[in-house]
Amino acid sequence: MYSSKIIGLGHHVPETVITNQYLSNLMDTNNEWIVERTGINERRWIDPKVDTVANMAAKATRMALKNAKLTEQDIDFIVFATITPDYFFPGSGVLLQRELGLDGRIGAIDIRNACSGFIYALSVADQFIKTGMYKNVLVVGAEIQSTALDITTRGRNTAVIFGDGAGAAILQRSDKPGVLSTHLHSDGHFAEELYVKDPGSSRPHAERQPEQILDTTSFKVVMNGSQVFKHAVVRFNEVINEALEKNNLKKEDINLLIPHQANLRISQFIQQKLALRDDQVFNNIMRYGNTTAASIPIAMSEAWAEGRIKENDLLCLAAFGSGFTWASALIRW
Ligand code: UT7
Repeated sequence: MYSSKIIGLGHHVPETVITNQYLSNLMDTNNEWIVERTGINERRWIDPKVDTVANMAAKATRMALKNAKLTEQDIDFIVFATITPDYFFPGSGVLLQRELGLDGRIGAIDIRNACSGFIYALSVADQFIKTGMYKNVLVVGAEIQSTALDITTRGRNTAVIFGDGAGAAILQRSDKPGVLSTHLHSDGHFAEELYVKDPGSSRPHAERQPEQILDTTSFKVVMNGSQVFKHAVVRFNEVINEALEKNNLKKEDINLLIPHQANLRISQFIQQKLALRDDQVFNNIMRYGNTTAASIPIAMSEAWAEGRIKENDLLCLAAFGSGFTWASALIRW
């Protein structure tokens, strides 16, 4: 059976830097609270005249292709993780295909698993490669959360943590070990703990297509932060250990853990639980906030560019988010 290896990584974030100070002019919050509770100093928000989910993904993809020494024409399939597609439908996978100038030759699917989306997408791509169906699969995570945030004091617990961005990985068929295993979980009992309600298809006609939107609350991100936090710290730990056990490996074998960048306190809790040193965990939430499905590929791309991932290293990815969904992947680089 084939294995799949990541042979190129890239990322792109919007130009506009949103500082904690800027947010404190919009709502009742302050730099001290945000840094202490989340570890975030700044995040990027899109300029709607410039950025789309698909064009940010295309920029990340071009960087990944360059690093992989491939061209657009080498891509056999696109797996696009986003919960913030440019349109309600179609998904952003086909828009990325268009941005890349590819014709109708290849397929594209969207994965809607929020913060776990990139690991789900990686798993899907890995299966396509392992079965021999495709050789080079583009796996992308890209999100625009900023325009769905409630940027008043009412929404401050969510508004301060999310940011926009895109990350991309090129997965290629190999006869050497690469993605060792992926572990995917979900529990829909908690769907409404972190969600955007509208425009929901099961809503009555008049609510799905209101003549005039009087209350926009149901179009904004709603999160029960402490509930999400409590589940996250348990599931992160579980799903990392599941991956290690499956591969007969120990936590000491991990060279680099790249957790989904949800909150620096969550990452630090996991690091402590697994007794990992600082150099074994990569965090960049300080600069970008929580970019949902884009957070892991952006972090991976930066870690790789900084020389933090070396050949034969054991890399562990782990995520938790809306759904609830959680997932992990172990990769031999
Ligand atoms: O990406 C995956 C999904 N998301 C996550 O994993 C996020 C998980 N949750 C979290 O990261 C944290 O729960 C938050 C950062 C969202 C919130 O931190 P917290 O330590 O759980 O705070 P809290 O919600 O318990 O609120 C504590 C206090 C409250 O005031 P009172 O009731 O104690 O007077 C809040 O009203 O902090 C207040 N607060 C704020 N104060 C200043 C909430 N948000 C803010 C804010 N600025 N932005």
